[in-house]
Amino acid sequence: MKKIALVGCGRISQRHIEAIQATEGVEIAIVCDVVESKAKKASELLGGIPYTTDFHTLCDVDAVSVLTPSGLHPRHVIELAESTNIPYIICEKPISLTVREAIEMMDRVTKAGKTLLPVYQNRYNPLVAFTRELIQSGKLGKIFQFVNNIFWSRGDEYFAIDWHGTQDLDGGVLYTQASHYVDMIHYFFGEIKQSKGIGGSLRKLEVQDTISAVCEFESGVVGTINATVSTYQKNFLTEFTLIAEKGTIRLSGTNLNKIDFWNVEGMERPNMDFSINHEYGKGHDMLYRYFADGRLDVFPSREDILSGIALMQRLSY
Ligand SMILES: NC(=O)c1ccc[n+]([C@@H]2O[C@H](COP(=O)([O-])OP(=O)(O)OC[C@H]3O[C@@H](n4cnc5c(N)ncnc54)[C@H](O)[C@@H]3O)[C@@H](O)[C@H]2O)c1
Repeated sequence: MKKIALVGCGRISQRHIEAIQATEGVEIAIVCDVVESKAKKASELLGGIPYTTDFHTLCDVDAVSVLTPSGLHPRHVIELAESTNIPYIICEKPISLTVREAIEMMDRVTKAGKTLLPVYQNRYNPLVAFTRELIQSGKLGKIFQFVNNIFWSRGDEYFAIDWHGTQDLDGGVLYTQASHYVDMIHYFFGEIKQSKGIGGSLRKLEVQDTISAVCEFESGVVGTINATVSTYQKNFLTEFTLIAEKGTIRLSGTNLNKIDFWNVEGMERPNMDFSINHEYGKGHDMLYRYFADGRLDVFPSREDILSGIALMQRLSY
């Protein structure tokens, strides 16, 4: 049984708890939050397991999951790597807000002899994984273009919550909402060669709530990402359209769980629509399954992560 420590008992910790509980071979050994009442509450929900308010005291677990506000990830990951004996550090997305910090954390984690495992759980959604296989197999021929639209809604009450919408801890729509799709296009197409984009916030936030970007990948694929959290009243649309030599595919739905359009040479539309009963998808379950099985190859590569953060940073700051 692999033992996991959770650092940060806020909103996303509940998804990690459910995912770990649903996965054979992993269990939560201890929880940590600087706010003692949060750590205590999580501990009680987990049957009274140990809790702490200082992650530096964590030891003798197989992995620690860092679930703290985004801008704090580099410092927390580095301190966990250098001051504890925990070999694997799972870190929620985005692992950092700047390329400089991402490189520093990756280098210092490696130097400390530890392994960083970034959380980009949408990679493990069945349709995303299937589309990647299809692209890699060459069955679609040359990939010409993609369009990725993320038209979501976060009201003013969302941005009133402590670190949300701040430059130092949040980073804006590309980092906090669309970074799964930034990761997905890297998973599909590799590294970005050039990008241009314009973002804005007419809502007087410190960060951009709306971004339109165009990217060219090293492979020659070009495409656009349009992301906003300012859709009227509620989330409107998530879509990914792929234009290729031998096929056109459009995926949609929360976390891309539906095939909206399918026209691929020699291939019937697969019966792969699936429902998701959670706003964050079920990818965290897969992530812990892979960790339990030692399948570390499925986590994003250093190149994908750095290219993704470079894109987000270039367009957001
Ligand atoms: N993968 C996903 O789908 C997904 C979804 C939501 C959030 N997230 C990411 O998860 C992270 C956390 O988001 P959240 O919404 O849970 O935030 P949150 O504010 O609800 O929770 C963060 C928690 O970290 C604690 N914390 C801060 N500093 C700490 C420290 N030094 N030691 C221990 N605990 C500390 C805070 O007290 C708080 O309880 C963010 O990076 C966010 O982008 C990912």
